[in-house]
Parts: sequence; C-alpha cells; structure tokens
Amino acid sequence: MLINHQGFEIHKAYLDEAAQAGLVEDIRKVSEQAPLFSPETRWGKKMSVRMTSAGRYGWFSDRSGYRYIERHPSGSHWPPIPESVLAIWRTLCSPQRDPDCCLVNFYGETAKMGLHQDKDEKEFSWPVLSISLGDPGRFRMGGQERGGKTHAVVLESGDVVVMGGEARLAYHGIDRIYFGRSTLLPKGGRINLTLRVVD
Ligand code: SIN
Ligand code: MN
Repeated sequence: MLINHQGFEIHKAYLDEAAQAGLVEDIRKVSEQAPLFSPETRWGKKMSVRMTSAGRYGWFSDRSGYRYIERHPSGSHWPPIPESVLAIWRTLCSPQRDPDCCLVNFYGETAKMGLHQDKDEKEFSWPVLSISLGDPGRFRMGGQERGGKTHAVVLESGDVVVMGGEARLAYHGIDRIYFGRSTLLPKGGRINLTLRVVD
C-alpha cells in the first residue's frame, strides 16, 4: 500500500520477511567492519541513536557540526553499500545514479531523533530513501519550516519511505520506538537505513 503525505511516499509492507532478514544480515556485516558509534551533536550532547554508514561517504557529527566524511572514526574506509540495499534504491528512485551514502541508524528502547531536515548534502534534486527494520517507530513529518504543523505515521519493519520533491527538505524525526513488538532483531530495537546522494 502506498500513502502519499505532502511528498513523503510511504510504501507500507514493501519488503517481505525474507527480504528484511537478508537486509539485517547484510547490515550486520557492515557494522562488523564499521562499528556503530554514538555521535555528539554540535552542542556536545551524545545522540541516543547509534550510527554507522556504508558507501563513499558516512554521515558524522561532533562539536564542529554535521557533515559527510570519507572514513569511519577508526580511520577505515566505509564498507560498500550492500547490493540488497542498492536494489531498492534502483527500483524506487533511479537505476541511473546510485546513492553515495547509506546511513545506518540503530534505535534502542529509549532512542529517538528530533525533528530535523536532511540538508548536509551538496544538492537536493535526488530523494532520500528510508528503510525500516525491526521494532516500529513513530515517524513525525512536518513541512519545510520549523514549527509548522506535523503529522505522524508508525513505520513498521519492511516499510520504505521516499522523501523527494516537496518532502526532500521537510522536517522529520522519530518520536519513539515501540520496543519489542517485532521479532526480526533478536534483542529488539529498530534499524533505519537512509540512502543519500551527497555530491
Ligand atoms: C533519519 O532521519 O536519518 C532517520 C529517520 C528514521 O529513523 O526513520
Ligand atoms: Mn533525516
């Protein structure tokens, strides 16, 4: 089922269980090579979400601000984006241009992500594609101005969201995780993958 909310294209139940399990396995390999870490915000506060990346660039944050970097904090290059993830981008976004970054976000029981815009990329003509795995999360969507009206939808394991057009620079965030509702991840929690064209 496809829901369109102000440019947010929400493909409910896009991935079946076998596809979800395959993605988890591929992301587990990514996190073995590039372990999850908790970035600091520009105000020096640790984020509740743990992150890593795959691709040419990884998203990073510390007191110097939000940016893309070419290496994991350990100094290694980021692993390549798994083919299973690229296949979803090629089908829903473009077979012509692959993304430069797959940001992997891991949400434990109490993790959340405040409303923000994805605007650290050099250009905004490509959509951001988001894949949800594991426990459901309440996804909040706003407009392009801070403080505007917002609307929430629960993203479940296998849901895929394409944020393009008017949603490309729209505010969004995760209010809460419904911990332990999904059996996909044995220890619970939610994985979100976002694919971005950076430059
Ligand atoms: C993000 O905005 O980077 C993540 C969104 C989500 O977890 O669904
Ligand atoms: Mn975002």
